[in-house]
Amino acid sequence: MSNSLERFRIDGKVAVITGGAGFLGVRHAEAVLDAGGIPILADINESAAKQRAANLSDKYNLEVPGFYADITTHKSVEELCTMCTERFGKVDILINNAANDPKVKQDEADSVPWSRFEAFPEMIWNKDISVGLTGAYLCSQVFGREMAKRNQGVILNIASDLGIIAPDQRIYHIQGLPDERQPVKPVTYSVVKHGMIGLTKYLATYWADKGIRVNALCPGGVYNGQPETFVRQLTNLIPMGRMADADEYKPAIIFLISDASSYMTGASLSIDGGRTCW
Ligand SMILES: NC(=O)c1ccc[n+]([C@@H]2O[C@H](COP(=O)([O-])OP(=O)(O)OC[C@H]3O[C@@H](n4cnc5c(N)ncnc54)[C@H](O)[C@@H]3O)[C@@H](O)[C@H]2O)c1
Repeated sequence: MSNSLERFRIDGKVAVITGGAGFLGVRHAEAVLDAGGIPILADINESAAKQRAANLSDKYNLEVPGFYADITTHKSVEELCTMCTERFGKVDILINNAANDPKVKQDEADSVPWSRFEAFPEMIWNKDISVGLTGAYLCSQVFGREMAKRNQGVILNIASDLGIIAPDQRIYHIQGLPDERQPVKPVTYSVVKHGMIGLTKYLATYWADKGIRVNALCPGGVYNGQPETFVRQLTNLIPMGRMADADEYKPAIIFLISDASSYMTGASLSIDGGRTCW
């Protein structure tokens, strides 16, 4: 292949992004567009998917589809796959991005927060696992099956720094509350994100001989107007001393979904300001 920068191009490649209408999903779509690809925003929030896709269409002067999909059901994922292949004839890239990440509330002074492990509701456990892990498994199964038939494809799983380390619950601590009332990062976030790394290694080896590469991105927290105290406590744990900017993962997304990473599979790429070194 010619020069190294050309390996980052994905001209004409079709990329399905689950949770594509979300905060980072739209950024992943912009990365796909920047590199010459065509993103498909797939989201349970159909109106947001269509609206964000329309915004991207205007910005990039290229028609970007926004499709409804509930990735927790096999039927809906099959329907999504049919819509994508009817429209484009193929899907080259799957970005398993959707996950629940309920924000840890700082104002639950009067009650025992649901997030504490002793009280953690089975209903929320099931919901979080079903979006974050079952959704990634179903999408990989359906889209990966089609990629395997064509002997090519890329799956990128969005994990987290919390797929590598445990949450430091001290950063969610509220002054003056007894231990049993302190809100915490939910257990499901750890389980889902560690699970994404397991799924990555499993599928990378399972489909290595089918030309499908599977990697994970482990991003650190993105600044999005979080309370000042939280930001200070979190950034104390980050060697670079700051959270990520929302656009800062785009080059890594392009690297991981393009031929620039052609010899990389089963790997987890940490981009977290150094947090997981500490
Ligand atoms: N934002 C961060 O700081 C950060 C840091 C590290 C990792 N991540 C990971 O990046 C990914 C995206 O995060 P985000 O901040 O954009 O989240 P977000 O909540 O803004 O977006 C998630 C999207 O998933 C969609 N979704 C939920 N359930 C679905 C379902 N059943 N089917 C289809 N779509 C569904 C939601 O409608 C939403 O649009 C997540 O996996 C998250 O864990 C985020």
